Amino acid sequence: MDEHTLTITDNKTGQQIELPVRKATQGPDAVDIGHFFREMGYLTYDPGFLSTASCHSKLTYLDGKQGMLMYRGYPIEQLAEHSNFIEVAHLMMYGELPQQQQLDNFSDIIVHHSMLNEALKSFFRGFYHDAHPMAIMVGVVGSLSAFYHDSTDISNPRHREIAAHRLIAKMPSIAAASYKHSIGEPQVYPDNSLSYVGNLLHMMFSVPCEQFQADPVAEKALDLIFILHIDHEQNASTSTVRLAGSSGANPFACIASGIAALWGPAHGGANEAVLSMLEKIGDVKNIPGYLARAKDRDDPFRLMGFGHRVYKNYDPRARIIRKMCHEVLSKLGNDSDPLFELALRLEEIALNDEYFIERKLYPNVDFYSGLIYKALGIPTNMFTVMFSIARTVGWVAQWMEMISEKNQRIGRPRQLYIGPTKRDYVPIGNR
Ligand code: ACO
Repeated sequence: MDEHTLTITDNKTGQQIELPVRKATQGPDAVDIGHFFREMGYLTYDPGFLSTASCHSKLTYLDGKQGMLMYRGYPIEQLAEHSNFIEVAHLMMYGELPQQQQLDNFSDIIVHHSMLNEALKSFFRGFYHDAHPMAIMVGVVGSLSAFYHDSTDISNPRHREIAAHRLIAKMPSIAAASYKHSIGEPQVYPDNSLSYVGNLLHMMFSVPCEQFQADPVAEKALDLIFILHIDHEQNASTSTVRLAGSSGANPFACIASGIAALWGPAHGGANEAVLSMLEKIGDVKNIPGYLARAKDRDDPFRLMGFGHRVYKNYDPRARIIRKMCHEVLSKLGNDSDPLFELALRLEEIALNDEYFIERKLYPNVDFYSGLIYKALGIPTNMFTVMFSIARTVGWVAQWMEMISEKNQRIGRPRQLYIGPTKRDYVPIGNR
């Protein structure tokens, strides 16, 4: 049976409703409750969206039980092994892996949009020197709409595409400029002869008075991490981008809202939090104490880089990154990094602990990504910025998918009101 329905009975009134079940090509089907309120007079209640599909999408599939992730049907393991960031970006935006000519054109377009308007430089100077680079990202990316009026007609598919190209191309330049500002060094212009991540490393680490050559190991590792971070279906930041975009807001503002949502430690900020946590734990002998704190409901401490809303198995991205972490640390001559040793031990102890086993808490992508960033010389406060550069591809692809839908509507959730019922205003002297 292709399409079926689900019947719900109100045990109080006996009223029934038959709800269509929408078929997924893979994974759980979804009960369509679009008419539920109109017909039954009830809202559905699902804080945190544990059982709610907010949209349909052809981009990313993940199976939390099996620990499986696919972009446009391609398993992440295959893309990580054989592809590169720009090729996967093409796949996400246009739906297919490119032919050589298409890939060359796409790379060329991205390369030729990487410069920032000179007027934008004064934005960076306006931030205090110790501003968190994510704060600068939110502000500067949002401000791009002030520079690109020619690509903000969201009803025009060509405008949408140009805005997407600009965002993907300019994120590394903005990220590097945020970093340079925070360390008081001059901004470095992009170099069109370099790869996407090679250019990012160049803009972050070169200085006008010295030659800089990115280490190919570092370039390969960063490209891989970027592939793994491109998209992850309707996570908090992507849902934020979609919700902002559903009102017709311009794409630059939408991506800025995604960056803001990504910043939190329960989401993209976790990679930064993992490193701080490992530094705090400091030594293997302190692990049991911290694990006890993580298990204590009255203690807000959580094991950062562990657990995931959807994965109830090993995060497939964490598996790939863990392997890359070994490779990077040994190739960059850093294999005795005590924090890496500590992370491996912490993972082993947690995975054998009843609390973590019972709750199916496994390392997620952020458990090891921070260690790689650290080995590449990327400062801790830039970790989430790195994530935002890669995730921009997913955000723009999701935004384009949503806007191009025929009956796209504004996202407007309802609420279960639990505040006071009607009461009369009391003058201040009588309260
Ligand atoms: N450490 C200790 N206990 C945890 C952890 C953790 N990291 N994660 C979940 N738990 C516990 C919860 O306390 C809860 O226990 P209970 O059943 O006794 O109440 C149970 O496991 C289920 O967890 P929830 O909080 O209900 O899971 P939720 O899906 O809401 O949260 C989240 C997922 C936010 C990722 C959570 O696991 C967490 O905070 N992890 C640490 C932060 C982190 O690594 N975030 C990165 C996510 S991946 C990404 O954004 C790229």
